[in-house]
Amino acid sequence: MTPSASHPIYVIGSGNVDHIMRIPRLPERGETVTNGVYLPTFGGKGANSAVAAAKAGGRVSFVGCVGDDVGGTALRAELEKFHVQTPHLRVVPGVATGQALVMVGEAGGNYLSVAPGANHRVEAEWVRSLTDRIEPGARVLLQNEIPAEVNRVVLAAARRRRFACLFNFAPALPFPLEDLRGLDYLIVNENEADNLLAAQGHQPLAERDPTAATGLLRELGVECVVLTVGARGAVVATDDRVETIPSLPVKAIDTTAAGDTFCGTLAVALAEGADAFAAARFANRAAALSVTRAGAMISSPTRGEIETFSESSGTPPPNLSNNS
Ligand code: RIB
Repeated sequence: MTPSASHPIYVIGSGNVDHIMRIPRLPERGETVTNGVYLPTFGGKGANSAVAAAKAGGRVSFVGCVGDDVGGTALRAELEKFHVQTPHLRVVPGVATGQALVMVGEAGGNYLSVAPGANHRVEAEWVRSLTDRIEPGARVLLQNEIPAEVNRVVLAAARRRRFACLFNFAPALPFPLEDLRGLDYLIVNENEADNLLAAQGHQPLAERDPTAATGLLRELGVECVVLTVGARGAVVATDDRVETIPSLPVKAIDTTAAGDTFCGTLAVALAEGADAFAAARFANRAAALSVTRAGAMISSPTRGEIETFSESSGTPPPNLSNNS
């Protein structure tokens, strides 16, 4: 893959201030678990993916909204620190920047809740006017943390203007299935896949093998489905090929934003001309590295770290504690 020849990437999505509490184990309902370590950081599925893509060598612009508060100013500065372009990051007066509470427990598993704030002020008409200027070779990455109407506008523009769209259907939300017709890449985890399978009238993933599930999801009219199945890896399905990409043996300490890292780095590899299978292998390495680190946005690896991560040994590079 050749970073210098890459197409631009637009991430249209959410940005949050994340309040992460690492605790020995996740609590039961009504239970208090103490001895936590608090980590204030930045997140939002969109912003996390944008930073992951920029660190992996992508030419990335972020499109979204923050509030006119300290968090919004700091989030913009953080994006720019990682060379994400922010001319399309809007400030909404009188509204709070998105906030997320994340509890991280055993094996890096988490509970996550979000107050969307300014993320729900991203307006369809504004984004429609931006998509009119997106060049045909660009890759556009979406998630489900801004209004569905905005994503529908982008999907329609992608069909009309023929730029490639990646839709990370996270978190799972009701969405008009007919709008997915013609989508280039649908990226889902097990929960999101179940949501779409149910909407299609199918049994959940537990009742079938993941490969068959990707076939059903492709019936939505999607060119390529990438289904991540946790420790079982990822299944990539196109018209003429289905491949399972095994997960990599790393010690997970925090899985927050692993999916965002996967999607951002997948977009980078695709923008550089990789096919979906090579791109997913690249993204798989990046996501594996991200779970070995605490935090959301700060957990994604650099290009060098992804490339030196030996897939055969599963050995992370030595500088894993360095997040810059
Ligand atoms: O995917 C992880 C992200 O989800 C967190 O950074 C949090 O902000 C929520 O948007």
